[in-house]
Amino acid sequence: MNLAVIGAGYVGLVAGTCFAESGNDVICVDIDEAKIATLREGRVPFYEPGLEELVRRNAKEQRLTFSTDLAPAVRHASIIFIAVGTPQRQDGGADIEQVLATAKAIALAMDGPKIVVTKSTVPVGTADQVRLFMADFTRHPFSVISNPEFLKEGAAVEDFMKPDRVVLGGEDPKAVEIVRELYEPFVRTGNPILVMDTRSAEMSKYAANAILATKISFINEVANLCEKVGADINEVRRAIGLDRRIGPHFIFPGVGYGGSCFPKDIRAMIAMGKPNLAMDLLRAVEGVNERQKSLLGEKVKGHFGPDLSGRTLAVWGLSFKPRTDDMRDAPSIIVVESLLQAGAQIRAYDPEAEEEAKKIFRDRIRYERRNYDALKGADALLVVTEWNEFRRPNFVYMKELMKNPVIFDGRDIYEPAELRRLGFIYYSVGRRDG
Ligand SMILES: NC(=O)c1ccc[n+]([C@@H]2O[C@H](COP(=O)([O-])OP(=O)(O)OC[C@H]3O[C@@H](n4cnc5c(N)ncnc54)[C@H](O)[C@@H]3O)[C@@H](O)[C@H]2O)c1
Repeated sequence: MNLAVIGAGYVGLVAGTCFAESGNDVICVDIDEAKIATLREGRVPFYEPGLEELVRRNAKEQRLTFSTDLAPAVRHASIIFIAVGTPQRQDGGADIEQVLATAKAIALAMDGPKIVVTKSTVPVGTADQVRLFMADFTRHPFSVISNPEFLKEGAAVEDFMKPDRVVLGGEDPKAVEIVRELYEPFVRTGNPILVMDTRSAEMSKYAANAILATKISFINEVANLCEKVGADINEVRRAIGLDRRIGPHFIFPGVGYGGSCFPKDIRAMIAMGKPNLAMDLLRAVEGVNERQKSLLGEKVKGHFGPDLSGRTLAVWGLSFKPRTDDMRDAPSIIVVESLLQAGAQIRAYDPEAEEEAKKIFRDRIRYERRNYDALKGADALLVVTEWNEFRRPNFVYMKELMKNPVIFDGRDIYEPAELRRLGFIYYSVGRRDG
């Protein structure tokens, strides 16, 4: 099939590339000329494991091309995916300006019947809105399908290639069937393609992110209570995770959720409830998360006192989670800013996010080439993102490098007893002896 994907970001580029990988002819369009130029050189402008190799192969075999010119891409394609950003508005709601601008440009470029698929995360009712909006700009027939994306950054290719489920919302059975066929190669192991109305499809995406964020805030709240009453969150986590109604996934305590999706999608969902529904649960989820992001910095100040001037602190991990360079709404921003404000000097290391972090912290922190380099003369180490390479470090060497053997582990990746045996002062999240 001939496809166009508008918006070549994390979602659009992964989707376009994976569709090309399954034999379709795909044009990825973006307004960002630098991004398209980079992609044309066979480079991916962000870090996503396995993606660059796939982009190169499919570009080489001419199934995947890149353009800043939307109109020819629309005319070439029978199915057009909208994968542009839906950032947060001032009032917390999702801003669908990019989606509507794209929808209008598609309508104006159409030269025959098309299927338009909204892949961006959009408020419930957007597909209907897009349909009405486009009708003002074209006389050609078209259908609008809602197809929310559930991929995770850091495992995006794998998630797209083998989705737990594909959700298609649409009121035109023929168009739904065509998009369903497009997804068939990705669900050969039997995972379902769920067909529903567009509003339920749109809501499914928000509901999925909301329950995941709720799990994180829930376990963080229990972790904080564990600290207060002398219980150990990791024992508790194991005990509750074995209950099949609860399950072991996504109940790890930490420094709070971040990224480009959870924070904005929770706020968008709260905004959707206005004016009649207070959405109390999600407000609490957000409130707990905001608080959680500041706890690690507070622990540092609890240990060293509120004035950190003259202190050098090493930070391992800046991206909002491992295996991505995405810094959008990363908890590290809150942690690092609070330490800087208290006068500390920061030596940070992240395996992939340095370039993105520089856009936020500029030269206010030092970026190190190796994780151990960040420890030289440090008064303490803060583990903010649980990259795999931080899990089994050489603690003896670390102690030699550091001025004070103090670790604030924001992700509970070390064993309190082991670190204490090695002579570290060790703080973690929600553990009795951490
Ligand atoms: N990142 C994720 O993990 C993820 C997962 C699921 C869903 N989503 C949703 O998918 C959507 C896209 O997210 P993303 O992370 O890929 O964003 P992104 O910022 O990485 O990419 C969006 C791209 O759209 C381009 N763009 C904006 N306006 C355009 C226009 N008029 N024409 C062409 N291109 C345009 C931008 O230049 C940018 O490259 C959002 O709604 C997001 O909530 C994201």
